[in-house]
This record gives sequence, C-alpha cells and structure tokens, in this order.
Amino acid sequence: MTDLRAQVRERVVAALELDAAEQQALLLQPPKNREHGDIALGCFALAKLRGVAPPQLAAELAARFVADDTIESASAAGPFVNFRFHRAALARMAVAGVLRSESPFAPTPPAAGSPAIVIDFSSPNIAKPFHMGHLRSTVIGAALGRIHRHLGNRVEGVNHLGDWGMPFAKMMTAWMRFGDEAELHRSPMRHMFDLYRRYGDEAKAHPELDDEAAAHFRALESGADNEERRMWQFLRDESLKAFQGPYDRLGVTFDHFTGESFYEDRMEAAMQRVAAAGVLEVDDGAEVVKLDALGIKVPCILRKSDGATLYHTRDLAAAFYREATFRPSRILYIVGAEQKLHFEQLRGVLKRMGEPLADKIEHVPFGLILARNEETGKWEKFASRGGNAIFLDEVLDEAVANVRRIIAEKNPDLDDPDEVAEQVGVSAIVFNDLKNSRIKDVKFDWEQMLNFDGETGPYVQYAVARLAGILRKLDVDPDAGAALCDGVDYALLADAEQVLLTMLEFGDTVQRAAEQSEPSLVTALTIRLAGDIHAYLRDHHVLRAEPDVQRARTALVAAARQLLRTALGLIGVAAPDRM
Ligand code: ARG
Repeated sequence: MTDLRAQVRERVVAALELDAAEQQALLLQPPKNREHGDIALGCFALAKLRGVAPPQLAAELAARFVADDTIESASAAGPFVNFRFHRAALARMAVAGVLRSESPFAPTPPAAGSPAIVIDFSSPNIAKPFHMGHLRSTVIGAALGRIHRHLGNRVEGVNHLGDWGMPFAKMMTAWMRFGDEAELHRSPMRHMFDLYRRYGDEAKAHPELDDEAAAHFRALESGADNEERRMWQFLRDESLKAFQGPYDRLGVTFDHFTGESFYEDRMEAAMQRVAAAGVLEVDDGAEVVKLDALGIKVPCILRKSDGATLYHTRDLAAAFYREATFRPSRILYIVGAEQKLHFEQLRGVLKRMGEPLADKIEHVPFGLILARNEETGKWEKFASRGGNAIFLDEVLDEAVANVRRIIAEKNPDLDDPDEVAEQVGVSAIVFNDLKNSRIKDVKFDWEQMLNFDGETGPYVQYAVARLAGILRKLDVDPDAGAALCDGVDYALLADAEQVLLTMLEFGDTVQRAAEQSEPSLVTALTIRLAGDIHAYLRDHHVLRAEPDVQRARTALVAAARQLLRTALGLIGVAAPDRM
C-alpha cells in the first residue's frame, strides 16, 4: 500500500512530532483483523524510545489524530493504532492509479546514472541437456529482472554459460572419440547427452580418458588456433541454438551471453590482483586462498598444479569484470542451494582481499524440482527420474498438450486453442515454480499445476479472462485506460474494499520482492487478487447494474484486469483475454 502508507506515516510523524530515530521505529503493517482497520501501527518500538507503555502511546496518538478526506479514522486497540481510509479515497487510489498508469502500478523509468543490478541466471552448461535446476534459475532470474526494471532499476541480465573447463573438456573428448556428425545435426542436445553418458560409462573402465580430457583442456587454454578451439566453437554454437527454443517459449532474454570462456583472457589479471593483495598461497603445487579466518574450512583453489584454471577462477574474473563494466549495487547469482559453498568461497576471497565488492555478491539459492517416482510414490529429484535426462522442450510440450486436452473439453469453440494452450501450458510451469518461496523444493505434479480451481497459473489467468469477458459484453475496450475514469463516483465502490486493498498492496509487494529476491511474493498477490475478484463478482453484477454503478464497476473491472496482467507479466506469465 505504498501511497496510503506514506500518507499515514506523514500524519503520524506530524501528530507525534517524531524525530529521525523515532521515524525509523515507525512500522506499519496489515491489521490482524481487517475489520479493525486498513493498516495498523504497532507502538512497541516507538513507546520504548519514549519510555511509555505501548497502549498509552497508542491511545495518545489516536486521540490526537484528526480525520481528513483520505484517512477516515484512527482508533487504538491495545498497543496498536488502526487506521481506516475513506472508501472513495481507497477506490480512487487503486482504480485511477492503475488506469492512469501511475506509479507503482506502471513501471518507473530508470533514473540516469543509477547503479545496476546484475543478475547472473540460467547459465546452463553447454553440450549438456538444460536440466530442471537451470529451468528454475531461468524462471526466477527472469522474474527478478522484470521486477527490478519495473522499479526503475538498471538491470544487466547475464547468462554465465558453462562453456569452459573440465566438464566441457570431457564433452569434447567424448565427441572426438564417439561423435557422429549426422546424429549431432539431427538432434544436437540428445546426441550430446548420449555422448556425455557414454563418456561417464567409459571413463569408469578407462580412467585415462580423464587425462585425455585434461590434455584437451590444456590445448584449448593454450589459446592456439587448433582442433580443440574449432570443436569448442562448434559445440558452443550448436548448444546456443538449442537453448534458444526454450528461452523463446519462456519469453526470457539476456543482455549478455558472457559465459565462462569469456574470461579466458581476464583470469591472469584477476590472479595477479589476488597475489598483489597478499592472500594467494601455494599449497601442494596449487594456488589457493585460505579462508579459515572467515570460518570457511575449504580453501578456494584458483589454479591447479598443472596450471589449469577453475570454475572459481572464472567467477572471480567475472566479478571484477562486472564491477568495472556495470558499476553494480548488487550482483545476484541465481544458482541452486547446492552451490552455497562455492559462493561463500568467492565472497571469502574478495573479503580477504579487502574488496568492498565482496558485499555485493549475493547468492540467491533455490530448492530442487521434485517428481513423483511412479513405483515408490516418493518425491525425488526430477533429473533422477529413471536415470534419464529431462529435455526442457519436452517438458514444455507435455504441459501444452495437457492444456490442449483441457481446452478441448472445457471450451471447444475457442478461436485459437493452440496459441492459448502454449501460453497457459508454459505459464503453468512458470507459475508453479514461482508459487512458493524459492528455497522450498518444487513438486512437479501435472494435475496440481493445471487445476483451474487451485492456486495455479490457469486459475489466475482465468480471472483475467473473466474480467476481459465482462468488458467485452459491455463493449468496452479493455485497454482504454484513463478514459474509463471519466465520471466515476468512487464512493460507489465501497463494496469492493477487499479487492481494492489487495490492489493497493502491489507497490509494497514488488518492492519487497526485489529486496528479498523473492518473486513468489508477487505470485502470492496474484492468487489473492484473483480470489478477491471471483468473490466480488459472485454477488456484485456489472452487466445488470444501474448506470452509475455500472460505470464505477466497469472501471474497477478494467483496473483489476490490468493490474493482474501487470503482476503476471512480472513473473513471466502471459494472460490471454479468452481461454
Ligand atoms: N554453469 C553452472 C552450473 O550449471 C552455473 C553457473 C552459475 N553462475 C556462476 N557465476 N557461477 O552449475
């Protein structure tokens, strides 16, 4: 409730003549019970600063508060003061705010010279199937990018492709030994996956394959124009082509495709910087930074004894590069929780170097995607399902096919069923991923995900289609925007207070989602708003209402549709007007 909250704050500060420290302690929150008011002030912290009992301060503030045409009343309830807004003011703020595309409902243009938020996301390893963990990173990172852009922050979305190092060298070895060109062109990701598996099997019996891979990597890192280099370019190009399909379907774009290989020529300078800071030690031939002093037991290895660089070396070079190039205020790494130690070590090295950059490194971890094991009924890590790889495109296809079947049943006359099925199917997966706080594991359950009555993508999308349907019947252009506010008597929307209050939470929610790197807060808001709308429309007619009431409700319907679409857009969910 960004605007209303600011108004209450201002009024409280004036009424009690709060000083700066007291203003810090002023905390507004939704009331425990909405019947008590629209927003509550808990007086504990303030009362402590003033050395009085919280209920006493609450009573004092309520008594001093003078109503105006926005805030109707302030009443004390124990240690809380509950504020209530005039219903017309509430409606005007929400409905006109949205339809006139005012902040926070519309994106704030980026301020010139503002620091960037770097978001390192998706970042699959090339020449390997795009696995479900990468799907989560892609979906969460893209949502955070949109959320920050909405707030007017400059965003640099980076795909830190795994296109260098030993994992890639193993792939190259497999390709050189067992690869089949025709097969690769027919189905690049599948062939690469087969090669990758074959390497794994063969390396068990022939550990010398790993030495071969290490030699290939050395040849690649030598910088010479050799067979390894050509192979690397080829496999990288093929992989990028294959990744583009799912990225397009998910509506995800990147500002930079700077993978690990991009740092080939930048690692040396990074190593020198570490050495110059006096924290690089030689341990058993390898160059390492010890982190015991920071409570991290495992040292960070930056160069192996054979001279090869590592994943960490490239992340360090990348951090320096991003700092110099983007001048970021935060660098968010959207990477699974299993890499916690990796990022602690990265930060640790920078901390030991005395680099302020250390505090900008933020690992944004997330949980696993789980699938039900058909035999045992237990939920397990998705990728382990039958030991098979998951090809993201196939998962998306399955979602779309499921939705297509549901549409054929529910709405056989729909004009463009394939397009709607694509939007609803892909969105269902995205929505399911962003529904709960990111650190929780996500259960991949088709039935649950596609349930039109559950807390799902289709459920919220359906609310948009329902609102659009009402506007269609009224012959109103759903995107008419500000024009729909003309002549509206906002007092007539008093009965929609639940919808309005939820709409007014949007600004704060987006802000908190950005601060906490938690897109699920936005998802949760769309679920609540959809629920409030369905409840409202159950006993409030628009089509059959009196002209004045109809005008007001039409504006409400258009605003609710627009805000739901904006919120869904932030999390990467399309909202068709018919489904
Ligand atoms: N390619 C890595 C993986 O698949 C993720 C990279 C994440 N980003 C980073 N800067 N380390 O596990």
